[in-house]
Amino acid sequence: MAARAGVAVSTLHFYESEGLIESWRTPANHRRYDRRELRRVAVIRVAQSLGIPLAEIRAMLARLPKGRAPNKAEWQAVSEDWSRELDARIARLEALRDDLDGCIGCGCLSMETCPLYNPDDRKGREGPGPRTWIARERRLRKAT
Ligand code: FES
Repeated sequence: MAARAGVAVSTLHFYESEGLIESWRTPANHRRYDRRELRRVAVIRVAQSLGIPLAEIRAMLARLPKGRAPNKAEWQAVSEDWSRELDARIARLEALRDDLDGCIGCGCLSMETCPLYNPDDRKGREGPGPRTWIARERRLRKAT
């Protein structure tokens, strides 16, 4: 299982302890994994590589049936819900990328655009942190 999935045995044990995958025991008490768990491990690895929190991955996988391989319709239902969340995440990442070289309202006043978008750090009166990003994040979350 570890060799085919491309992860360490300890990673499988971690995923199992987190309730993300399941194993069963032989009469000699050796741990075995059903082949269907390979797909779950693959999804977990890709999602983690994209920075998706484990809690979010767990919530998604928890919607799939336990003890048997999910059918296509079950994967599709989960996939459609997750697609909406991923679209929202993509929108936030694009916003981050697009604003990275401009004023984000953090209070540093170090960018050329700061005097225009955050004169005298007026945004600091709204609260701590990068106020422009925080406001955009709120708008994006409301929109999705
Ligand atoms: S980038 Fe920090 S206040 Fe403009």
